[in-house]
Amino acid sequence: MLKSSSQRTSSSRGPSDSELLNSKKDQDFDLIFPEAIGRLSICHWSPVNVCRTAAQMLAVEPGTRVLDIGCGPGKFCVIGATSTQGHFTGVEQRGKLARIAQDVVRKHRVPRVDIVHGNIQDVNFREFEAFYLFNPFEENVLPALRIDYDVELKPKLYTEYTVHVQQQLLRMPMATRVVTYCGDCLEIPDCYACVKTAFTEKLKLWVKKHPSPDYVHGASLADADRSIPVGVGGLISA
Ligand SMILES: C[S@@+](CC[C@H](N)C(=O)[O-])C[C@H]1O[C@@H](n2cnc3c(N)ncnc32)[C@H](O)[C@@H]1O
Repeated sequence: MLKSSSQRTSSSRGPSDSELLNSKKDQDFDLIFPEAIGRLSICHWSPVNVCRTAAQMLAVEPGTRVLDIGCGPGKFCVIGATSTQGHFTGVEQRGKLARIAQDVVRKHRVPRVDIVHGNIQDVNFREFEAFYLFNPFEENVLPALRIDYDVELKPKLYTEYTVHVQQQLLRMPMATRVVTYCGDCLEIPDCYACVKTAFTEKLKLWVKKHPSPDYVHGASLADADRSIPVGVGGLISA
């Protein structure tokens, strides 16, 4: 295991930025975060090998725009951008986590990552070709998964956010890719098929294989009006 700069002795060489960023072990990679945030990793942030596999499933071409729905401190986005040629945007409702993610990206000069502080309900899905979800909304219904007390959690929000994501994914073009890690996958509409799994089926790649039902098309303009742009370099404070 690598030692962080605060753990190493004056005579030893600390891990370089690139050693930390490219580490394949979670206990090493998580040293890029403040200690309290790194400690949450085992339960709340995707493991390094899962991030790498998911990013490869999603960023199939250079520049593929991938959205991490509820990015936490940015672990998936950072690993995705350093292990593929995709462009990764993370949206995170907790200001503290979004700022940590932005600091990591800035400090380690990670290319092709944008971190947005905001709610998934305010993001324009049409700016992306691929999506990643690791249990973003479950803490609303499973109190044991509560990360902190910075945001209000309630079962009604689980339904509201899940339905919102499902409706946005329904309107996406054919061949849109989504990867889910764990969770009940209720966000995935029926027109998507699970085409690949990994990590004993905890990681699932979904691809939109069937056209959206007719009723979907009339509603998309109203949603576009309330979305916030999160294009390259866009940092938004909610
Ligand atoms: C289980 S963590 C996953 C973090 C990251 N995607 C990863 O895989 O390492 C889920 C995150 O989603 C965020 N989240 C939950 N609901 C959200 C919403 N409506 N909008 C934006 N972020 C949300 C939570 O604050 C939390 O940081």
